[in-house]
Amino acid sequence: MKNDRRNFIKQAGTLTGAAATISLLDMLSFENVKAASSRIQNLSPKDAARDEDFWFTVQQAYTVSSEIINLNNGGVSPQPLVTQNALDRYVRICNEGPAYYMWSVLGNGRENVRNKLAELAGVSAEEIAINRNTSEALETVIFGLDLKAGDEILTTNQDYPNMMNAWNQRVKRDGLKLTTISIPVPPKDLSEIVDVYRKAITPKTKIIHVSHVIFMTGQIMPVREIADMAHEKGIEVICDGAHSFAHLDYKISDLHCDYFGTSLHKWLCAPFGSGLLYVKKEKIEKLWPLLGAPKDFSTTDIRKFEHLGTRSFPIELAIGNSIDFHNGIGSKRKEERLRYLKNYWAEKVVRFPKVKFNTSLMDNQSCAICNFTIEGMEPAKIHEELFSKYKIYTTTITHDEFKGVRITPHVYTKIKDLDFFVSAVEKIAKG
Ligand SMILES: Cc1ncc(COP(=O)(O)O)c(C=O)c1O
Repeated sequence: MKNDRRNFIKQAGTLTGAAATISLLDMLSFENVKAASSRIQNLSPKDAARDEDFWFTVQQAYTVSSEIINLNNGGVSPQPLVTQNALDRYVRICNEGPAYYMWSVLGNGRENVRNKLAELAGVSAEEIAINRNTSEALETVIFGLDLKAGDEILTTNQDYPNMMNAWNQRVKRDGLKLTTISIPVPPKDLSEIVDVYRKAITPKTKIIHVSHVIFMTGQIMPVREIADMAHEKGIEVICDGAHSFAHLDYKISDLHCDYFGTSLHKWLCAPFGSGLLYVKKEKIEKLWPLLGAPKDFSTTDIRKFEHLGTRSFPIELAIGNSIDFHNGIGSKRKEERLRYLKNYWAEKVVRFPKVKFNTSLMDNQSCAICNFTIEGMEPAKIHEELFSKYKIYTTTITHDEFKGVRITPHVYTKIKDLDFFVSAVEKIAKG
């Protein structure tokens, strides 16, 4: 036992991979998922999405409660057991001598996590800052950009409130102008969305702030097309990737944006309070950090955005375990399973009278997240009935132009739970 612990500490000190810290039990669940993946390696991701034996193995890697059916994974997602246990072990090690184990041992493992994140994101590790969430990432950008009175920021009225608050603070403080456009819900095709942005650009537009996946509806946005159009006009692009990272199979570099932020506690299933900021290499120098960096700190070093002071190294290190788990499933397989789960319930529910969708079911417009409503019923009432009568947990979305209930399954969601949800909606819709 003592030896095991000593070995773990030794491994943590020279941490080269999160697998180095996996216990035998975790190893079994992690290995089960890996073995199940290799069993279906000849299946296309679309076919693998329907292989219930494979997904059963994935479901077993989570510890979710049977008390409720959680269909609000968009808010925050659970961690697989392998991550929970790693986090627990990191915390225990830190408590054996915090200043030593945190700063001298675990802290060294951060660079390994940065490398893993960079590989997953398809960008350089020197463009990735590890932080706590999307809000921290994007507000670092919003407050760090040199902008002057009269400069215009273009965004939609469906982007996330935290970031809109930050922009509004700059409007008040620095005299910027925030233009919020309305996008169709749902659009016929993605070019309709690009056109709305194109028409709203003025000679004073300096920044376009765009969500990759709209949190209200799950709408996938044509970020690359918007970014290419913006760059032709010398406009920089900030992408809110809270709902797309480790949900859709893509690389940040595919998006052509200048700045990107995401929360790893959403689709990656990393510990609560973990996120990343991406800044394109050539933009790092001019972006001010939110928390002051030392004077002699190289201004082109991405680590200047990490001067948070004492923070949770256990949370940061356990991100690596979630990346391993995610890679064990495979990004494309995960995307196809999530889309399959959404289509599974949505294609049944859409046939019920009075049910309407605020989300397009086209593959290029949505994946796991979908927003529906029942005509003549307030979303709060639908949400309340789903929970009080069926213990199905969802969330409501109320916007000036549309409203509904947002449903987000995750990789651990069981088909029989979706069947139960479908029958609950049918009963509610029939009154
Ligand atoms: C699109 C979008 N951006 C940002 C956030 C904020 O995420 P966090 O609270 O992790 O900072 C959310 C949260 O749901 C979101 O949906």
